[in-house]
Amino acid sequence: MTKALVIGNWKMNLDYVEAVHLTRQVATLLASRPVERVEVVLAPPFVDLRSVTSVLEAEHASIGVAAQHVSDRDNGAFTGEVSVAMLKRLGVASVIVGHSERRTMYHMDDAIVASTVRAVLRGGLAAVLCVGEDLATREAGEHDAFVSEQLTRALAGLEEAAQRVTVAYEPIWAIGTGKTATAAEIQAMMVTIRTRLAALGLGASRVLYGGSVNADNAAEIVTEGDVDGFLVGGASLKTEPFGAIVHACNDCYAERR
Ligand code: PGA
Repeated sequence: MTKALVIGNWKMNLDYVEAVHLTRQVATLLASRPVERVEVVLAPPFVDLRSVTSVLEAEHASIGVAAQHVSDRDNGAFTGEVSVAMLKRLGVASVIVGHSERRTMYHMDDAIVASTVRAVLRGGLAAVLCVGEDLATREAGEHDAFVSEQLTRALAGLEEAAQRVTVAYEPIWAIGTGKTATAAEIQAMMVTIRTRLAALGLGASRVLYGGSVNADNAAEIVTEGDVDGFLVGGASLKTEPFGAIVHACNDCYAERR
């Protein structure tokens, strides 16, 4: 059975002491009410990764760990960067690639996104590719074409690694704004994304939604939005809302393929 996937993207929040605390709380909550249909992953800042993996090991928690970003280079003179091999050594299993905050604030263009996805897959990790349009593109009615093009640019020629590619649809206008896309808008975009993924030989990939997901809207988006899980930002920084999203996903997810 393919499980749904819920990733908590902590962004640049929580130092390692706070990270240990939240990780313990999430592990305790999920131990008290385990989920069978959802894979749960935490994506802390780089400096917290070792602490988080240690806590999860000690607690025997079946929670995965992702990084929020990685270099597309293997090693060398790239000050400030972190490589895929370094993450792998820490027990990190997946990497978020091309989050809109990195694309817009740190000049991560489609070519760098594509080479980063390849570096992640080459290194044996899983890639969570973020795509999504801004408000002007949505209002111009060009969102389907825009997202399809982002997928092609990032994922063409990667059929062999199909099992390790996940896509997260995150409309930029819904990230951190409290404004969620409607279930109908999400469902329509899921059709667009799955059609393009199938054409790229990646039809088995899970497709997540991200953008102001919370405990109140998660069940409706899973049920009517036809998603395979969530990339959660703000609501992943506290145990109860994050746990509620995970449990809503577990209760409502019906495998599609
Ligand atoms: P948000 O962020 O849930 O705070 O809107 C989602 C994301 O950027 O991954």
